[in-house]
Formats: sequence, structure tokens, C-alpha cells
Amino acid sequence: MIKISTSQGLEFVQQHGQSILDASIAAGYPILHSCRSGRCGLCKAKLVAGDTQCYRREALPAALSQGSWILTCSRSALSDVQLDLASGQPMRMAKAVKLPCVIRQLADHGPDGLLVSLQLPLVCRTRYQPGQRLCVLSAAGVSGTYQVAAVLPEQRQIQLRLARHSDSALQHYWFTEAKVDDVLSVLGPLAVPDDAAGAD
Ligand code: FES
Repeated sequence: MIKISTSQGLEFVQQHGQSILDASIAAGYPILHSCRSGRCGLCKAKLVAGDTQCYRREALPAALSQGSWILTCSRSALSDVQLDLASGQPMRMAKAVKLPCVIRQLADHGPDGLLVSLQLPLVCRTRYQPGQRLCVLSAAGVSGTYQVAAVLPEQRQIQLRLARHSDSALQHYWFTEAKVDDVLSVLGPLAVPDDAAGAD
């Protein structure tokens, strides 16, 4: 078992075969992410100490590719590791809660957008607010990170605005397979990075 710690005060363990990002999600302290495939750069972190192994191509911005930056979705730790999370990552994330949810509405939102309403369970103490981010997990285990567009507290619903061309592992599901009454999971709330985009 390998220990991952961050300069921001997080500590979690990585099991055999996990990426660093997957280990953070499993621990309930998800590092901010979106595509989970080494393309969007949102999960980047600076390697302060320890060894890691890259198992897929990392599309790091040119300005970062010469330093000790890594993409946590594309690497596993080989030893205990210390990371400095990228600017925009929260200083210390609140423990995220994983809840089941049901798709209540799927509506077109402009020419290339989709408005998704997710129903949270009746017994739900988690209070989401517009602008917070959360991780949505499909039944097949594919996930994506999204910003909460609106909250309907009376109906216990949260709404997400999705763009067809965004770089998310869940895109295929949302635009070709998703239907009302599908059961998903949400993990959050996650902290909001300073430079978060409006819609995913
Ligand atoms: S590059 Fe890691 S989540 Fe996108």
C-alpha cells in the first residue's frame, strides 16, 4: 500500500493498479479532474517527492512539460509520494459524499447543449450550491466532473448544463445513451477552482 500526501494537507492510499487520481476518488478526496484520459490537464500536480510511473501519454501544457508536473489520471505512484496540487486546486478539500441519484429530465440547451436534472435521495444532508463542482459516475464506472448550474431545493434536484463538445469521459453516455430514470452516482461537493469554466 502506497501513501500519497499533498502540500495542501490531504493523505490517502493508493492500491495496486490504481492511478493517483483514482486513489483520491476512492478515498473521497477527489483531485479535480474531467477527462481521466490525459487530455484536459485539470488533474495536474507537481511531484515533490517519490517515484511515479506514467502509463499513458500525458498532454501537459508546454509551459509545464519541462518541470516535475504530472497528470494524476495517467500515473501510478511506485513509492510513497508527495504532491503539490496545481494552482486552482483547493487548499484543503471537504470530504466528498457519494450519493445515488436519478435522471429526472434531459432537455436540449441551445444547439449543442444538454440540461440534465438529477434527483437526489430523500434523505440527503448534502446541500449543493450553484457553482460547486461534483463528480458524476455512470453505472459502468465512467465519471466526469461538472459544475452545478442550478439547485431546486424543493424537488431535491440539481441541474447540470453540458456542452456536446466538452472533453469528458462521460460525453458519449450523455448524448447517446442517457435516459430519464437512469440511476447514477454523484460524488461531491468538490471545491471550485478559481479558473473554473462555466459549463463542462
Ligand atoms: S488530464 Fe487528467 S483528468 Fe484530464
